[in-house]
Amino acid sequence: MFLCPKCNSKMTLPSCSFCGHTIPRLNHIWQFTDAPDMVIDGDKDKYIGYEHIGENYSGSRKYLLEERDVLFAEEVSSLISSGQEAAQLSADPDKIILDLACGDGCFTVPCAKSGARLIAGDISNTMLRLLQEKAAHNHISLENVTLCRMNALAIPLADESIDIVTANSMLHLISNPQKVLCEIYRILKKGGCFICQDDRPGKNLRSDLSHQENGHPPKYNEAQIQADNEKYSQLVNAFYSGYWQKLMPQGILPKKYSWKFDRDQLCSGLFSTREEKLIPRGAPYETTLEDGFLPRIINRGFSDQTHVPKDAHEKAIHELLDEFHEKYGEDFGRTMFHGVEDDLLITAYRK
Ligand SMILES: C[S@@+](CC[C@H](N)C(=O)[O-])C[C@H]1O[C@@H](n2cnc3c(N)ncnc32)[C@H](O)[C@@H]1O
Repeated sequence: MFLCPKCNSKMTLPSCSFCGHTIPRLNHIWQFTDAPDMVIDGDKDKYIGYEHIGENYSGSRKYLLEERDVLFAEEVSSLISSGQEAAQLSADPDKIILDLACGDGCFTVPCAKSGARLIAGDISNTMLRLLQEKAAHNHISLENVTLCRMNALAIPLADESIDIVTANSMLHLISNPQKVLCEIYRILKKGGCFICQDDRPGKNLRSDLSHQENGHPPKYNEAQIQADNEKYSQLVNAFYSGYWQKLMPQGILPKKYSWKFDRDQLCSGLFSTREEKLIPRGAPYETTLEDGFLPRIINRGFSDQTHVPKDAHEKAIHELLDEFHEKYGEDFGRTMFHGVEDDLLITAYRK
């Protein structure tokens, strides 16, 4: 069901029987493209691959199977299930799911558990390696998963060959999302679905966080929650603006590498139906600066830092950490944020 990158004929792995080209394989990842990891200049379609973000994409949560992703994987695999209870989902092995721009496998890995046949594609070999690590860490086999370095702007799959496509958190990283959507539409079988996962703020439970159920005393009182959250936001803003203030005199400014688009509008011109399902969540959670924000900015993990030279970045971070330790104490990284998990909105566009 693949397309040969050399002659565009249909092929099965590893070699094209028409032109003889063999797809190179690196660490179990089929290399369908030699396109750059990112394109940010020039006249061609632009995109931001995450090769440079790699390890810092999920920070200390890199091996976690997040509840929202597990729920999404269960919903998607239930669409191609062989009819068993959701708890023991067993996907139909004749159906194929493409997880486009799969990143570190937050969907692919829990979905692989159902036995679904998956193709996981990303432009970044590092993200695909993290996917392999996440699976190994969670003892989930990738036997049914074909890992491919591919460019979403030219998907190396035959027309009408795929049952389900997911492409979470990626269309905004591409200057021409319409081209990717046309590719997704092309490779889907008739009746196949493009399925999207979005967060929606649920019932605002922030004040409920201090009133825990089941007769247990509240872990945090309302005043503390408010004070922690204010301090957390203040420190994030101060660190972020302090970073750029150190770089600006050197002519280095933040660059937003993402593009606005209206997915529903673009999809309505292509797909025949659209269905939605809202999965309520709303569980309270706590996070700290050192769980996500700090490791990401310290390691140039935000895409607006993509162009910052390494030396200037390291100097700015070093100075800033010294200043923050002095001003807010050595353990400022443990400042806590109390939140409530968003609801999960699943949208299926059917061909
Ligand atoms: C924000 S991450 C999302 C990863 C994952 N889908 C998720 O929901 O967490 C975006 C991913 O898109 C990939 N990406 C960006 N441009 C791409 C392209 N042209 N082709 C394939 N993947 C691309 C990046 O390498 C990165 O892994």
